[in-house]
Amino acid sequence: MTIGALALLVHGGTENWSSARWKARFDEVCRDRRVLLPDATVDPAEVHYAAVWKPRPGELAAFPNLRVIFNLGAGVDALMADASLPNVPLVRVAVSDLTGRMTEYVTLHVLMHHRQELYLRESQREKRWAPRYQWAAGAITVGIMGMGTLGANAAEVLARIGFRVVGWSRSAKQVDGVECFAGKEQLGAFLRETNILVCLLPLTPDTRHILNRDVFAGLNRNSPMGAPVLINAGRGGLQDEADILRALDDGTLGAASLDVFETEPLPQVSPFWNHPKVVLTPHNAADTDPDEISKYVAQQIERFEAGGALENVVDRRRGY
Ligand SMILES: NC(=O)c1ccc[n+]([C@@H]2O[C@H](COP(=O)([O-])OP(=O)(O)OC[C@H]3O[C@@H](n4cnc5c(N)ncnc54)[C@H](OP(=O)(O)O)[C@@H]3O)[C@@H](O)[C@H]2O)c1
Repeated sequence: MTIGALALLVHGGTENWSSARWKARFDEVCRDRRVLLPDATVDPAEVHYAAVWKPRPGELAAFPNLRVIFNLGAGVDALMADASLPNVPLVRVAVSDLTGRMTEYVTLHVLMHHRQELYLRESQREKRWAPRYQWAAGAITVGIMGMGTLGANAAEVLARIGFRVVGWSRSAKQVDGVECFAGKEQLGAFLRETNILVCLLPLTPDTRHILNRDVFAGLNRNSPMGAPVLINAGRGGLQDEADILRALDDGTLGAASLDVFETEPLPQVSPFWNHPKVVLTPHNAADTDPDEISKYVAQQIERFEAGGALENVVDRRRGY
């Protein structure tokens, strides 16, 4: 029996995500299979699987016998933009390592704003001993947009810390300890409850620029924190950046933590770099380890070849 090869097409990511590191991990977990980097000489017909991160448009269409595409991250927006993407199952990553790292990022930033860290660091720099009233976590409602793999886990941890948590998704959900809202009709009600807005949505035609002026104006301002806060760790395309800057400057938003931007790397001229109300990180909220993901992909291939079902297959109509 011929064992189909696995093509590894990884462009970008941190040094932890170098092609060489991915190849070493995949060679270990796919022992009988040829794992190929883009420069390998191979008959494209031998490639049955592709593990990819930001493949170039058209790169995947070169493999006529492709059976499954594994995206090495959770978000598939870059792939969905490739009109020549082969019509085979597209699997995204949902592993506990990634989920745990995103929950760390969300918890860190929610706590940072709740505990007034921007004010306290500024006081320290200026040698001002000026304590401010610190309210309890229960006085703040965190609203999570996107109650999927990542959002649901962050919601659970934040609720355990003592925050009131509300969630918003496309379909209705029941989650213990979290008041859930769904669909466009309930977006307003969700925002009216929310003091800290955490966005963990996928980028799709329906969600592009959803983080805009109307949404910020709909947030709740009646907590001890006053002006609401935005935390976006989804995708840059979810946010209208001019609206964020205007909302920060006119007080509609009190602060923002941004991990993702419309243009990455963030251009030097961007006003976000020096904005006193912005905490920014270079798209590494959840920089998952290749070890965990390569095992997840190898297990899926094994199960698929034994006639089992693939997990976390993207619904191409919904775009996530
Ligand atoms: N910054 C980083 O380092 C980083 C790392 C990993 C992932 N991400 C981003 O995080 C996103 C979420 O990942 P995930 O694994 O949690 O995805 P997921 O499990 O697919 O969850 C997506 C959630 O968004 C909801 N949703 C989608 N479209 C919607 C719409 N139009 N209106 C309302 N809700 C909508 C879904 O609703 P339903 O539950 O009703 O389907 C679901 O609850 C990824 O797509 C990626 O862009 C960023």
